[in-house]
Amino acid sequence: MTNLTIHHKAIGLGLRQEFFNTLLAQTDIVDFIEIAPENWLGMGGKRKHLLNQYLQKLPIVLHGLNLSIGSIAPLNIKFIKSIKAFMREYNILIYSEHLSFCSDAQGYLYDLLPLPFHDKTIKHVVMKIKQVQDIIEQPLVLENISYYAAPIQVIKEIDFLNIVIQESGCQLLLDVNNVYVNSINHGYNPYTFIDQLPTNKICYIHIAGHCQKTDSLIIDTHGEDVNSSVWQLLQYTYQTHGFFPTLLERDFNIPNLLSLQQELSTIKSIHNRCESKVFE
Ligand SMILES: [Fe+2]
Repeated sequence: MTNLTIHHKAIGLGLRQEFFNTLLAQTDIVDFIEIAPENWLGMGGKRKHLLNQYLQKLPIVLHGLNLSIGSIAPLNIKFIKSIKAFMREYNILIYSEHLSFCSDAQGYLYDLLPLPFHDKTIKHVVMKIKQVQDIIEQPLVLENISYYAAPIQVIKEIDFLNIVIQESGCQLLLDVNNVYVNSINHGYNPYTFIDQLPTNKICYIHIAGHCQKTDSLIIDTHGEDVNSSVWQLLQYTYQTHGFFPTLLERDFNIPNLLSLQQELSTIKSIHNRCESKVFE
């Protein structure tokens, strides 16, 4: 059994089918991996064997897609219980999801949509987060999503996020790329946003690539290399809040593992830069 602890400078990679086997042969290039539980729940045979092989070598984090924590529809209790059972069976310690909704009364919408930044939404989503936490018996970890249309923004995004975290007791999966993408698309300062986050609630960090269409429009593709502005914001995040486990997401246009390894080593060089700055 592998050591489940993910240390504060751990570097992770979202596991993709494209490199299931190649990564398994060189797990020393990462400290942890992330999987979507929806793709693994109830599996058997080869898939279960593969997961067990990974578990022998690396800690695994669950990063879900279908919880739809902010939906007006009731939570799928059976699904959440199956997540809990999966975590217990495979000794997985973290379940992260998105602060968004992806379903309504008619069913799944196949996209992660932003919640209205409004007092009433806070009350609603806090109640649902607590419901999930009661079932899984640990804090839920929620990610700040990227979004385009922003209906009914009464409260600023940063205030909405902070109040939800504070009132629900959940933790934050800080997606630094999403902060940058939203800052361009919605016209705010990403550094001020990072400044206002609660250090003691950050669980781990996501980093990813995007596509800049115009000066004021970015599409969050997860299909390109990480952009230099996002690397700079990651460095600032470390300098402001300290080091946290950091995971590279690459969901489309997936290059070979060597290219991804180069991006992973950039995270390490940012660690080194931050540490040397302390002594400047
Ligand atoms: Fe993310």
